[in-house]
Amino acid sequence: MSKRFYVTTAINYVNGQPHLGHAYEEVVADVIARSRRSLGQEVFFLTGLDEHGQKVQQAATAEGKPPQVYCDQLAVDWLAFTKKLELTNDDFVRTTEPRHKEFVQAILTQLHAAGHFYKATYTGFYSAKEETFLTDKDRRPDGTFDPSYGEVVELKEDNYYFKLKDHQQWLIDYLEANPTFVQPDYRRNEVLGFLKNTTLEDLCISRPAARLNWGIPLPFDPGYVTYVWFDALVNYISIPAAHGDQTVLAESEIGNRKSEIALWPADLHVIGKDIVKFHAVYWPIMLKAMGLPLPKQILAHGWWQKDGSKIAKSTGNIVDPIAVINEWGLDAFRFYVLRELDLGPDGNWTDAGFRSRYQAELGNGLGNLVNRSLSMLKRYRNGIVPTPSSELAADAQKVIADTARLLEQNQLQGALLSIWQLVTRANLYVEQNKPFNLAKDPAQSARLDEVLYNLVETCRVLAVLLNPFLPGTSAKIYAQLGLPGSPEKFELAAWGKLSAGHAIGEPAPLFPRKEV
Ligand code: ME8
Ligand code: MG
Repeated sequence: MSKRFYVTTAINYVNGQPHLGHAYEEVVADVIARSRRSLGQEVFFLTGLDEHGQKVQQAATAEGKPPQVYCDQLAVDWLAFTKKLELTNDDFVRTTEPRHKEFVQAILTQLHAAGHFYKATYTGFYSAKEETFLTDKDRRPDGTFDPSYGEVVELKEDNYYFKLKDHQQWLIDYLEANPTFVQPDYRRNEVLGFLKNTTLEDLCISRPAARLNWGIPLPFDPGYVTYVWFDALVNYISIPAAHGDQTVLAESEIGNRKSEIALWPADLHVIGKDIVKFHAVYWPIMLKAMGLPLPKQILAHGWWQKDGSKIAKSTGNIVDPIAVINEWGLDAFRFYVLRELDLGPDGNWTDAGFRSRYQAELGNGLGNLVNRSLSMLKRYRNGIVPTPSSELAADAQKVIADTARLLEQNQLQGALLSIWQLVTRANLYVEQNKPFNLAKDPAQSARLDEVLYNLVETCRVLAVLLNPFLPGTSAKIYAQLGLPGSPEKFELAAWGKLSAGHAIGEPAPLFPRKEV
């Protein structure tokens, strides 16, 4: 059994509706999953929901609902969202599912037995109103806490801790020896800088059930639930275990469970920049303690703003991805976020920028090329493909090779730029060869055949290259070319697959002009 390319997203807190940041991360992971499948790998793409913890408990209480009811209702919206984005995820984890909770408890039992946890007393300033301990960072310049915290009292609390700090030097050495473990490089350097300049504190992994009960009970102490990271991060292995992945199953289970697929270690964790520390510091040390191999790569993307300021429901500065998709189409949304923002830096959404890319790159670039190429073949050759010609073959082959290489490096923006070189080249070819003039001169008939072949074949190649990014558009181009299905295999991009005598379908605008 060969190991699949296993790609994950962060699991999203289910304390509200999906926003642009969530949509972006899901689309990035989906394009990577589709690209790898297209390039011939078997893939497993996991996404899902982080349902436990204080934020969710508070949100549920605010709506007067039991937390599980609250989660079940919102999960419907989040699942619908994966459909809206046409994600090709192979599973969808909810951390309240038994398959996840049981696995988390098994891990906690194992680590507790092996001596990785200890109990200690924490003393700190506690806001009962916000149900949280405050630190010096929460103090105002005069030393007091903001009145919004209500009464703040000094409190002693016993909790369980995971021995993190013993592994600090090991992790530094690992990051030094594996420069691509955290990407982009500047994120890796931040993690290394942090590890070299700070002494790690052991990680608190519990909350007293009396204070927070919306969590997975510690199997060795029912007075506590596990807190956040030993629950959320473990989804990346609990789901492989649920599918029978031998690597993450406990010794005792391997005999009784049918092994269905090989997933772990993950090839890629796609996450946002705010949770790099949890994935690049806590998670590797947790895995080491469990005796499991580390993921191959953590890819941290940047954060979106809108019109230069933070996206926030409270200020109304939001982009509703569903509204954008309903108005402009899914592919326009997928295109804008991937073309506008490279993987790593922060991005800025503007409605004007969105419209301008829609009109220039999708409408006048790709859409116009496909529409006029196919319409001219219809008009001048009755929609019948002429004898193959390879005038644009070298240009196409260069773009095909560049795109494959960039996709293998997860350079999604780079791949789109490469594909658009072919769009631009072919539009220029129309201007240079003026098939509409050739059509007026019977002596130029053979030349017109050549030009038309090169144009429609380029459209076909573009449909293949664009498939992971714009799956709907790619399928439409194939349908308009009179070809069956949707070009999901990269090898279909090879030049010359349209054969003489093939009848294309009906051309129709891909990105209709919008009056605003
Ligand atoms: O952090 N732009 O969940 P979450 C880009 N449950 N990405 C953004 C963003 C923005 N404006 N806002 C959020 C959690 N994200 C935990 C993760 S993983 C085991 C547990 C990204 O719903 C964010 O960086 O707050 C993260 O990767 C993802 O959305 C989910 O964020
Ligand atoms: Mg967050």
